[in-house]
Amino acid sequence: MSKLVVKGPVRLEGRVRISGAKNAALPILIATILLKGESVITNVPNLTDIMTTIRLLRSLGLKAEFTNNTVTIMGTNDVRHIAPYELITNMRASFLVAGPILARVGFAKVPYPGGCAIGTRPVDIHLNGFRAFGIDIRVEHGFVVLKSNGKIRGSKYTLDFPSVGATQNLMMLASLAEGTSVLKNVAKEPEIEDLAAFLNQAGANVQGAGTDTIRIEGVPEMINVNYPVIPDRIETATYLCAVAITRGDVILEKVNTAQIQDIIKVLRKVGYTLEEIDDETLHISYDGGDLKGVNIKTEPFPGFSTDNQAMLMSVLAMIDGEKSSITETIFENRFMHVNELNRMGANIEVDGRKAVIHGVRNLSSSAVKMMDLRGGAALLIAGLVADGDTVLYNTYHILRGYEDITGKFIKLGAKFAH
Ligand code: EPZ
Repeated sequence: MSKLVVKGPVRLEGRVRISGAKNAALPILIATILLKGESVITNVPNLTDIMTTIRLLRSLGLKAEFTNNTVTIMGTNDVRHIAPYELITNMRASFLVAGPILARVGFAKVPYPGGCAIGTRPVDIHLNGFRAFGIDIRVEHGFVVLKSNGKIRGSKYTLDFPSVGATQNLMMLASLAEGTSVLKNVAKEPEIEDLAAFLNQAGANVQGAGTDTIRIEGVPEMINVNYPVIPDRIETATYLCAVAITRGDVILEKVNTAQIQDIIKVLRKVGYTLEEIDDETLHISYDGGDLKGVNIKTEPFPGFSTDNQAMLMSVLAMIDGEKSSITETIFENRFMHVNELNRMGANIEVDGRKAVIHGVRNLSSSAVKMMDLRGGAALLIAGLVADGDTVLYNTYHILRGYEDITGKFIKLGAKFAH
């Protein structure tokens, strides 16, 4: 079992550079299935999920290479229509290949994505959206078999829930459809706007990304682009929470302050000082004053991001004597880090979708197990302030979403042992 020992308590100081966004890079890399010619995607984080996506693109007939945070991709006229089981099942986002393969080939066979630790995470909204475009869908032998009846025509579809992945899958399908598509109740996350900007640079006509309605005029073909991925707003929130829990003083570089207002507002409300030096530089510090508990609930963007709740929970767990609550409205099982935090001496009660956090004076080092990406980050953050050596197991979870995480933390003063 992969493990990491984090020594506490420490106080983080210095500067950290935020990497490109995993959740923007994954759909953009997958969108290159739509393109002909060579594309160059920059500011791509070096993560295991990115390497999985590169293997997936190669399995579909594209050429893809990763060097120095740049992915060079050569499109193909012969996109294979079957996505390999072993690549889809260990990364849910790979179901996003369905839309682009359908758009290029008119036929796709994609393994039904497994749920994951944080919930069943069905793809019914994706599939109902495809049906609205006239796609025939069958599920057999664990594969979703999708087939268009002739040319795919632009359609209208209102999503039951603003699913990020379903919005992205349908944007990619509609980009090469014949005629106009109107998608309503779509996700408004920054990663949606980044995908739209990428598609438009490749010759698509996608309007309204970032609002609840996206209108797409289909185009006959899309060509290669050079494109930089936006900064990772969740990685940013992770480092903000790490500095907050250690009462540190850090400048974060290459952030996008407009996309992280959710976490900025909450940490200010708790009592930390956050100064937006410019739109890509943020300074967080603590002036020694009282810190207060907060009550938050996760919501689709621009509400408080579900991906930030685990890391914030670690911060709230250490506000001695203060009561806070976090209500998770997006996923049905995203509190698996709570038991592990309680093993470290936190005092958190879970009742369904709501966690009530009773802040304590300190946490004690312990052996804990990471259960998912963001919950794992929350445990690492807690280990920074726990007395002694906290042994983190299943650290492969955090390697999926955090580039050079130990290197970046060591530069800020964290101490690890293996
Ligand atoms: C994306 O996942 C992100 N992943 C997630 O980040 C993020 O938590 C999530 O959006 C919400 O913001 C990537 O971008 C790779 P959804 P996605 O479809 O697209 C339900 C991280 O930590 N749903 O918006 O899978 C679903 O079960 C990851 O970086 C359906 O019911 O999220 C969930 O409860 C974790 N049917 C809710 O909607 C569907 O067809 C949100 O899912 C699709 C989704």
